[in-house]
Amino acid sequence: MNFLPLIEAKRDGAILTDGEIAEVVDEFTRGAIPDYQMASFLMAVFFRGLNPRETRALTLAMRDSGTKLKFPKDPRPLVDKHSTGGVGDKVSLPLAPLLACLGFRVPMISGRGLGITGGTLDKLESIPGFKTGLSEGALVDQVQRLGVAMGAQSVTMVPADRLMYALRDVTGTVPSIPLITASILSKKLSESLDALVLDVKFGRAAFMQTKPQAVTLADTMSKLAGDCGVATQSILSPMDAPLGRSAGNWLEVRESVECLENRGPADLRALVIECAAQLLKLTDRAPSLVAGRKLASDCLATGQPLKKWEAMLAAQGADLAAYHKKLAQGDTAKSIAEVPSTKSGVVRDVDARVIGEVVRDLGGGRLSKGAAVDFEVGVDAMKQVGEPIRKGEALARVHVTDSGASAKAVERVRSAFVVSLR
Ligand code: URA
Repeated sequence: MNFLPLIEAKRDGAILTDGEIAEVVDEFTRGAIPDYQMASFLMAVFFRGLNPRETRALTLAMRDSGTKLKFPKDPRPLVDKHSTGGVGDKVSLPLAPLLACLGFRVPMISGRGLGITGGTLDKLESIPGFKTGLSEGALVDQVQRLGVAMGAQSVTMVPADRLMYALRDVTGTVPSIPLITASILSKKLSESLDALVLDVKFGRAAFMQTKPQAVTLADTMSKLAGDCGVATQSILSPMDAPLGRSAGNWLEVRESVECLENRGPADLRALVIECAAQLLKLTDRAPSLVAGRKLASDCLATGQPLKKWEAMLAAQGADLAAYHKKLAQGDTAKSIAEVPSTKSGVVRDVDARVIGEVVRDLGGGRLSKGAAVDFEVGVDAMKQVGEPIRKGEALARVHVTDSGASAKAVERVRSAFVVSLR
C-alpha cells in the first residue's frame, strides 16, 4: 500500500472513504505501515479531525482488527461502564458486582493507569493472588456463571487500538475526540454489549478539561455506540477534586470495599448508584432513573454485591485469607504521614491533579507504559470540599514506601488543599 497519498489527503482536510480507513487500520495492524507514517497520519487527524462517518469507519475497523467476545443467548443483558479516567475513580470496583446482583452480565474489560489516571487492573492486582489475565473463554465462562468478570483485554482483542494507542501516547495525539472515541468504543463494541454507560470526566485532572469538550466527547461516543447497536448513555462528572477520600491502588480497593459494605464516601456511592440506574433504565429494567437509583441502592444495602465481589475475587485466583488479612491489617505502606492543616476554616478546593501527581511520583502510577507500580502507596483520609477543618487537624494522610519521600509528599499534598474561613 502506498500510504503517502492518504496522509497528504488528511493533512489537507479531505474526507476519507470507509474503505480507505479500513485499509489504513488493516495495514497498520499487520505491520505494513511504519510507525513514522502512522504517527504523521494520526497528527493529521488530530488537527483536521474526522467527521462522524469517518469516526464510525475507524471505530468499526479497529473493532474488527481482532477477536470479539461471544456469549451464549441469555436473558441477562450484557452491560459495561467506561470512565474516561481520573484521580480516585474506583467506581468500577463496586459497580461491577452490584450490576451482577441486579441481573446483568458484566464482562468488564479494563485498563491500566497511566500518568495521573489510575487504572482498574492495577487496583485489582493489589489484591493478593488476583489474576487479571483471563483468556477470552475463561472470561465468558465466568460471566455466564457469576455474572461478572474483570480483566485485561486479551492479546487478540482490538490489536489496532493497542498499537495505535502506544503511538498516540508518544506523539502527542491522545487528546483528539475522534481518536478517543474510536479507541474506547472499538474496545467496548468487541465485548458484544447490549448497553453501556460512559462516565465522561471534565476538569483539571481529566482528559477533557472543560465541560463543553466533555459534552462533545460524550455526545460523539453515545451517538456512535447507539448507531452500532449498543444502547448507550453518557454521564458527565467533575474531575477537579478526587473522587472519594483515597487515591492509590490498595487504598482505593479498601474504599471500594467500604462502598460495598454500604458505607464510605457519599460521592463515590452516588456515582456507583447513578451508573447502575442508567443501565437499569437503558435496558428497561427500571421505568425511570429515580426507580433505578432506588433498585441499585436497595441492592447495595442487602450485602449481596459484597458477597459477589468476594466470589469474583475467588474465581480469579485471589487468596481470600490473605486478602482479609490485608484488609484487617489497616495500613500496609511502610510509613504513613499526616498532612496537618496550617489553619482552621473550610476546605474550598482539593486539586486532583496535584494528588494524582503525588501518587504517581510515590510509585503508585507510571510515567511510561509497562513500568512497575507500588500498590501500597497513596493518599487517604482526604478532607473533601465543603468540610470544616481545624488548625493542626489532618487534611489527608500520605502512604509511602520510601520514608525519605515523605516530607516532600506531605508538602505537595498540603499545596493541593485550599482552606479559608469564607
Ligand atoms: N482511553 C482509551 O481507552 N483510549 C483513549 O484514546 C483515551 C482514553
